[in-house]
Amino acid sequence: MDTNLLAGQVAIVTGGARGIGKGICKLFCEEGAQVALWDVLDAGEATAEALRAAGGKAMFQKVDVTDKASVEQAVEEVMRQFGRIDILINNAGIVRDRTFLKMTDEEWHQVINVNLNGIYTCTKAVIPHMREAGYGRIVSASSVNGILGAYGQTNYSASKAAIIGFTKALAREVGKYGITVNAVAPGFVKTDMTATIPPEMLKGIEDSIPVRRAGTTEELAHAYLYLASPYAGFTNGHTLSVNGGVIS
Ligand SMILES: NC(=O)c1ccc[n+]([C@@H]2O[C@H](COP(=O)([O-])OP(=O)(O)OC[C@H]3O[C@@H](n4cnc5c(N)ncnc54)[C@H](O)[C@@H]3O)[C@@H](O)[C@H]2O)c1
Repeated sequence: MDTNLLAGQVAIVTGGARGIGKGICKLFCEEGAQVALWDVLDAGEATAEALRAAGGKAMFQKVDVTDKASVEQAVEEVMRQFGRIDILINNAGIVRDRTFLKMTDEEWHQVINVNLNGIYTCTKAVIPHMREAGYGRIVSASSVNGILGAYGQTNYSASKAAIIGFTKALAREVGKYGITVNAVAPGFVKTDMTATIPPEMLKGIEDSIPVRRAGTTEELAHAYLYLASPYAGFTNGHTLSVNGGVIS
C-alpha cells in the first residue's frame, strides 16, 4: 500500500544501485518522491530504469561519495533538475574485513573514507539547501556492528559507531532549521555485502537473531521511510535499531 508520504519531495539515496539502498529507492518512488540514485556502480542506471518502468521518478548519477567534486556536481544537477532536496539518505558503505593485527592501512582508510568521510562530504554539500528551505531529513546507515563491535571489523565498527555520534551532534545544530538528523542501524540483511559469509556460518547468525531470520531490504526501507518522512519532525538525533531484537 503506498500512501504518497513523500509526494513532491526530492530524495538523494547514496549506494542506491543494489541491496538496501535499492530497496529504499523503490519504496521512496512508490511513496511519490523524485529520487536521485547515487552509486559508483554503472548498475545504478539499470536500477533507475527499472524504477522508471514501474512508474517511479528516478535518476541515476554516477557519484563516488568520497569525491567532493563529484558530490558537489551531482547536488548542483539535482537542484537544476528538481529545484529542491528534502531528503538525504547516506546509505553507501563498504566492508574490508580483517583482524586488526593483519589489517592493512589501506583497508582501514578505505572503510573510514567511504563509510564516514563520505557521509561528511554528502551532508556538507546538501545541508545548505535544506537550511535555505527550512526543511530537511538526513538519515545515515549505521550498523548493529557499530553498537556491538564485530570480530574482524575494527574499521567497519569504528566507522558505524562514529555515524551515531555524528548524527547526535549534527541533530543538535540543525534542528532549529527544520532539519532532523537520524540513523538506522540494520542488523543482518542478505545483500551483496554479506554474500561472502560462508553458508555454514549463516545458520548460526540467523539462529542468534531473536526472530530467527535475516531482515529484508523492504523492512529496512520502511525504517528509512519513517525517518525521512514529515512525521519524523520530532525524532532527532536517534539511531533506530532494526535487527530482529539482537540489541535495542
Ligand atoms: N547488509 C547488512 O547486513 C547490513 C547490516 C548493517 C549495516 N549495513 C549498511 O547498510 C548499507 C547498505 O548495505 P548493503 O548491504 O545494501 O550493501 P551493498 O554492498 O549491497 O550496497 C552498498 C552500495 O553502496 C555503493 N557504494 C560503495 N562505495 C561507494 C562510494 N564510494 N560511492 C557511492 N556508492 C558507493 C555500492 O556500489 C553498493 O551499490 C551500508 O552502509 C552497510 O554498511 C548493512
